[in-house]
Amino acid sequence: MKNSNFGFIGIGNMASAIIGGILSTNFIKPENIYMYNHHPEKMQHFVDAGCIPCTSLGELAETCSTIFLCIKPQVFPDVLLKLQPLVANKKANDVLFVSIAAGITFQNLQSALGADRLYVRAMPNTPLLLGKGATSLSRTSNVSSDDFKQICDIFSCCGLVREVPEEQINAVIAVSGSSPAYLYLLAKLACDYAEQRGMDRKTALDLFCQTMTGSAEMLLNSGKDPQTLIDMVTSKGGTTFALLGVLREHGFDETMLASFAACEQRAKELSM
Ligand SMILES: NC(=O)c1ccc[n+]([C@@H]2O[C@H](COP(=O)([O-])OP(=O)(O)OC[C@H]3O[C@@H](n4cnc5c(N)ncnc54)[C@H](OP(=O)(O)O)[C@@H]3O)[C@@H](O)[C@H]2O)c1
Repeated sequence: MKNSNFGFIGIGNMASAIIGGILSTNFIKPENIYMYNHHPEKMQHFVDAGCIPCTSLGELAETCSTIFLCIKPQVFPDVLLKLQPLVANKKANDVLFVSIAAGITFQNLQSALGADRLYVRAMPNTPLLLGKGATSLSRTSNVSSDDFKQICDIFSCCGLVREVPEEQINAVIAVSGSSPAYLYLLAKLACDYAEQRGMDRKTALDLFCQTMTGSAEMLLNSGKDPQTLIDMVTSKGGTTFALLGVLREHGFDETMLASFAACEQRAKELSM
């Protein structure tokens, strides 16, 4: 496979974060980045940076050997239907498709575009926008180590990358793909409470965010597992003890586990 030109279909939040990461690290030259969005104005920012806008899917498919599918899962059936005849004349090994969509399986892609083509699935998250994302990647067995490394390197421009088997990629959505939402929800609730108690919202947000960052550092670097770290903050009869008691009483663990399962179930439903 020749990885000279990289095409992005759907220039929304995620594609913008990935392209932004690539450009900020100079990993790929802008003149090797092609884009197609059905609303062309969404590409203008990257046109200004030297990337190439395509006026049709056909133009992108013809020029690119790696095609990132960055549209919403609901749009996949239509885009794949249009893409199939446009890549039909390419040899199976000549084009690698990278899908970042929740729920769209290798089987969906293989049925639509061909069983023996090269496929990678990625599950990124929105902190990619700051180069601090977390992306899980899976590949079909025919993707070579070199080709896969190149895709890993692209996502590494925007943060941390880990490989997972495809059967785990829906479970990972609860861990990293959708998890910014429940962390933001915790931040919002803590700030709401602080405000009710007369505190300045910005001060509360600063304190909460520093606590999230510091806690993440503790989890990564203290050598201690999460339960040990919880125990270290929790003296019997103390304030954290009271906080955790209420969480337990209100079924926090069960609620979170049920929400993770709902996330995975929804990904399965988004499959074509
Ligand atoms: N957002 C997240 O946190 C997150 C995390 C992990 C994975 N993902 C996955 O990333 C994918 C993209 O998500 P996103 O948040 O970046 O969505 P988004 O911001 O809506 O971006 C999708 C873009 O595709 C464009 N588009 C729609 N139909 C098109 C078509 N037929 N041809 C070309 N372009 C088309 C949309 O344009 P218009 O809006 O103008 O229609 C939009 O600019 C999804 O599959 C999602 O599952 C997202």
